[in-house]
Amino acid sequence: MTSAERQTVASAAPAVDMRSPFVRLTELLGDAKPGKPAINLSVGEPQHAVPPFVGPVLAAHLADFGRYPPNKGTESFRRAAAAWLDQRYKLKRPVDPEHEVLVLNGTREGLFLAAIAAKRWVQKRAGPPAILIPNPFYAAYAAGASGAECEPVYMPARKGNGFLPDLDALGDELLARTVVFYLASPANPQGAVASEAYLARLAGLARRFGFLVFNDECYCEIYSEHAPPGMLEAAGPDFANAVVFHSLSKRSSLPGLRVGFAAGDRRFLAHFLELRNVAAPQVPVPAQEVAVAAYGDESHVEENRRLYNAKFDLADQIIGDRYGYKRPAGGFFLWLDVAAQGGSEAVTKKLWREAGVRVVPGRYLAREQNDGSNPGADYIRVAMVQDNTATAEALHRLVAVLG
Ligand SMILES: Cc1ncc(COP(=O)(O)O)c(C=O)c1O
Repeated sequence: MTSAERQTVASAAPAVDMRSPFVRLTELLGDAKPGKPAINLSVGEPQHAVPPFVGPVLAAHLADFGRYPPNKGTESFRRAAAAWLDQRYKLKRPVDPEHEVLVLNGTREGLFLAAIAAKRWVQKRAGPPAILIPNPFYAAYAAGASGAECEPVYMPARKGNGFLPDLDALGDELLARTVVFYLASPANPQGAVASEAYLARLAGLARRFGFLVFNDECYCEIYSEHAPPGMLEAAGPDFANAVVFHSLSKRSSLPGLRVGFAAGDRRFLAHFLELRNVAAPQVPVPAQEVAVAAYGDESHVEENRRLYNAKFDLADQIIGDRYGYKRPAGGFFLWLDVAAQGGSEAVTKKLWREAGVRVVPGRYLAREQNDGSNPGADYIRVAMVQDNTATAEALHRLVAVLG
């Protein structure tokens, strides 16, 4: 591949549209009434029960609402997160809770603010600083690129490449001006999981070119068969240039708790903490105590995974091989190819008007590449967050309407 070809494959977008996909979805549907009692499969908000230990732990730590939380995270939280990483992944050495873990108010703010810290942390770039973003992607990555005043460079993650960015398509010139490479594994929306070899190669590129890899691992516990590998397994023994982002939102069905963490390269995390000390939302101590309990318990996570797998069994039966469906390796979304039914926006409107099923147009989760193509335009995203009955009903209606 010539360098000109490489630049086209990983093309920079003309402008950043910062609007949330859900705002655009509301605009798209306008005043249209749902054709049947509405079933919302648009937002990836887990609906499973809150784990039973949450209430008692909160009650036991009410007094801690009376003090400011430490920015870095309580010692017990950082120890619990590090211990969980050690038992979940095959790490070359244990994570140091003192220097290699920072609490986050959910991964979203962390993914955003870390880009701003990264821009100041990396050595001078050989060219205009760029932030590499898989396309489609979680909206906070593009917001991070914008906040850090870096050029967002969208890497198409299409079926032909297993729905992951093609590392062969990235030229040295681009890598030499890269500040951050965002990856999500498992990916939202496609559910693709990067292999350990892919992650190791990416970590090697980050070390060689001096950029940071931010691997968003918030869906790591929701998988069909094999536990997805993590970036810290694949990075070097000092986790150089690698940072992972974890959350209890999906793992423990606690999206309202707002607890996650960043772990990895201690040099970067020390710098990131300086920014967080003055600018980031702290995490209430009682919430961190709940997180200590959550990271110490796997039974609720196994049950959560079982519930998602039961819904994917329903999708296997009801969707079958329509719309290019294949059970995803991880995450909780269906990424359905509806090009033959009219494409992402037309199908989203039709499903709402005729079936009362609310999904997200894939187009809104992606950006136009330089050649004008949008890797999400043929797709809709269906979040498998409702219970079995509502999910089965929604999928039956979807098939009835789309054929
Ligand atoms: C890929 C991805 N990353 C990060 C987040 C943010 O999750 P939270 O801030 O609740 O940890 C989400 C939420 O939907 C997501 O889908």
